Amino acid sequence: MATPLDPVSNNSNETTLNGSHRHSSTDSTIQERANALFQDAEILAPMVRASSTPLRSLALSYGCDLVYSEEIVDRAITSTERIYNEKLKTIDYRKKMDSFSAKVQRRMAKNNDPLPTVMRIDPELERNKLIYQMGTGESNLALSAATMVQNDVDGIDVNMGCPKKFSVSGGMGSALLEDLPRACDIISTLRRNLNVPVSCKIRLLKDDASTVDFVTALVKAGANAVAIHGREPGDESQAAAKLDRLTNVVQLLKSSSIGVPIILNGDLYTRNDMVNMRRKTGADAVMLARPALFNASIFIKPPAEDAECEGEETRYGFDSKLLLSKTKVVQDYLIHANTYDGHVKNIKYVICEMMTNRRTPTGLTPFMPIKFPGGQTINDICICKSMDHLCKIWDVSQSATVSTTTVSENNAGDLHRYDDRYFLDPEALRKEKETSENITKESKEEKKDDADASKVDDERVAKKSRIE
Ligand code: FNR
Repeated sequence: MATPLDPVSNNSNETTLNGSHRHSSTDSTIQERANALFQDAEILAPMVRASSTPLRSLALSYGCDLVYSEEIVDRAITSTERIYNEKLKTIDYRKKMDSFSAKVQRRMAKNNDPLPTVMRIDPELERNKLIYQMGTGESNLALSAATMVQNDVDGIDVNMGCPKKFSVSGGMGSALLEDLPRACDIISTLRRNLNVPVSCKIRLLKDDASTVDFVTALVKAGANAVAIHGREPGDESQAAAKLDRLTNVVQLLKSSSIGVPIILNGDLYTRNDMVNMRRKTGADAVMLARPALFNASIFIKPPAEDAECEGEETRYGFDSKLLLSKTKVVQDYLIHANTYDGHVKNIKYVICEMMTNRRTPTGLTPFMPIKFPGGQTINDICICKSMDHLCKIWDVSQSATVSTTTVSENNAGDLHRYDDRYFLDPEALRKEKETSENITKESKEEKKDDADASKVDDERVAKKSRIE
């Protein structure tokens, strides 16, 4: 049975029975800790829906040095309680029942739905390797969420790059790139009050000088590391990243002795790319999102004797012999998913992403063939209703787990709403979404018209009664 945990003290550096990392504020300065975490690190990027425990542990098993959680909005964390999951030996941030409306609570009770787990952490495996990425637009909310999780993670990152409407309209993500005082307020509030490193992930601003100024201000406010995605907020993700601009910005920052680790992100699809971009820019670390989704074995490191010449020839390019087959990676991923009791819809989504290169910049897709000798198709994955079924399709034993961990019988609740049409018929799904958004907009406008009309009526009645 999962048990709620005792409050955590800060005077030990051990992983304790309840799984907490328990950072000590005396072991080293926070900046030294950030330097140790990020220096030379090859990092799994934050990816909504993808960077949950199974993909993170898979990446770590291949040699990834540091993993980010998917972005989780501050309020999503503050509406959870922290549970030690004895069966999985994980720490689960599980939604509290009273965070749902009465109607949803009734439906959940009727269907016997489990409470969704917002974030699951493996305290042993992810010790010294996990950054929680937060979506936030307000320093007080950011601090509440960060305070709840800081003893279970090694750093808190603020997403300042997401251009999606959901983020920007809430003052989060790339909205912060246009609001330096607010971005700095969030960082300095976290820095003053937490005992773990605080970082942020940004995109390029409209020109290099403004990007450098923005990063410099964030560092002054207390950021212990900054990741820079080489695109601007409005850029298409399938257009090539602006690597020349990224190079210039990072070179400028490094030559200004910025004093904190700078992390490169964007289109680093091969080990050669990672090494060459680091050499060129002087950056401290690299971060991979889609390249790791396409083939997570990209994190497998070359033998030590090759490390020196790695960037100079093609041995570690798209045809690198270090890469495992995509089938093997999916099979390994399923074993990690079994280990952490991943929700079938979430696991299906990630496998579908692994099976396509639809998100890859179009110029690179010819280098990224998709071969599954077992004949598995996206359609096969989309019709799966259970982990058992998925495992069968990929010829993985249904009981295969990474360790001897017993998988709980209750699958973690379904937090995200996935739709198989996302892969099978994206155009129809997009249209349906647009239509429903328009209907919501129209009905809001109608309600507003009704309200305006009744206000006018009220005013007329009031005027009439005044005249009378
Ligand atoms: C992302 N990205 C992203 N960024 C972020 O800061 N927080 C997030 O939660 C997400 N979610 C997300 C989901 C998926 C499926 C993708 C593909 C991307 C952006 C990502 O971290 C990265 O900045 C970009 O994808 C560019 O890097 P790559 O893909 O070229 O390595």
